Amino acid sequence: MIDRYAVFGNPIKHSKSPFIHQQFAKQTGQALSYEKLLAPVDGFEDAVTLFFEQGGKGANVTVPFKEQAFALCRQCTASAQLAKAVNTLWLDENGNLVGDNTDGLGLVADLERQFGALNKKNTVILGAGGAVRGCIYPLLEIGVEQIVIANRTKAKAINLAAEVNDKRVEGMGLDELSANTDCDILINATSSGVDGKVPNVANDFIHKKIKAYDMFYSAEKTAFIEWIEQQGVTHTADGLGMLVGQAAESFMRWRKVSPQITSVLSELRQQMSK
Ligand code: ATR
Repeated sequence: MIDRYAVFGNPIKHSKSPFIHQQFAKQTGQALSYEKLLAPVDGFEDAVTLFFEQGGKGANVTVPFKEQAFALCRQCTASAQLAKAVNTLWLDENGNLVGDNTDGLGLVADLERQFGALNKKNTVILGAGGAVRGCIYPLLEIGVEQIVIANRTKAKAINLAAEVNDKRVEGMGLDELSANTDCDILINATSSGVDGKVPNVANDFIHKKIKAYDMFYSAEKTAFIEWIEQQGVTHTADGLGMLVGQAAESFMRWRKVSPQITSVLSELRQQMSK
């Protein structure tokens, strides 16, 4: 039997993970299967347990189960611990469940691919939820100069910065961003894009040299990218590359080979525009 992998979520119908991982497998000559599995909202633990009991080799986890996946793991990485969320599961040699959160590494890889080296760059992240938690350590590890976490609810940003406890990380309210805030790279990690909205940021904070990344993605230009381009920003990217990047990191954990993301990303983009 070939090695079996899956992504768990609810809903899961529109997941692009099977396509991405099948492309990676083809590209690297790995024989494996990868399917999407719909777990009942109250039945994630049973579904995952059964999957691994039946010989499953590894799994991805998406909304709304990432926090539950974290709670199930015997062992997990620092990124997963800060995020309190896991998107990649496998078993260690003793059969214990291990978890990682590869979202942040996927983001960092895509940022570097799109915008160049991140070393010494000043980053500003909009939001302070799970998506932000997952990317703080990978950004610090790649050597950014500063991370400003700016959130609509200021207390959440302050608390997250305090939890990270690194002098390069500062929390503030969205409304405190101003022309005085150093920003080379701006990352929208709010969930505002889901409703086609844009976080309310003062216009004088935005300058033309900013490189702007939206973790959200869609077939058309996202609301955030549309808005920021109207402010004169020309270097922009949406989160589709992050999606492929996090998948590549999962694939590496499982198969110990590193797939190429660029060709898969352009195929995915093409599919979405159809
Ligand atoms: P995720 O796991 O996607 O990060 P989350 O944990 O629910 O989701 O966090 C959503 C984030 O988007 C929060 O930081 C939220 O701000 P608040 O903490 O003030 O709620 C932010 N957010 C959502 N909609 C927003 C909007 N329209 N403008 C600004 N921030 C928004």
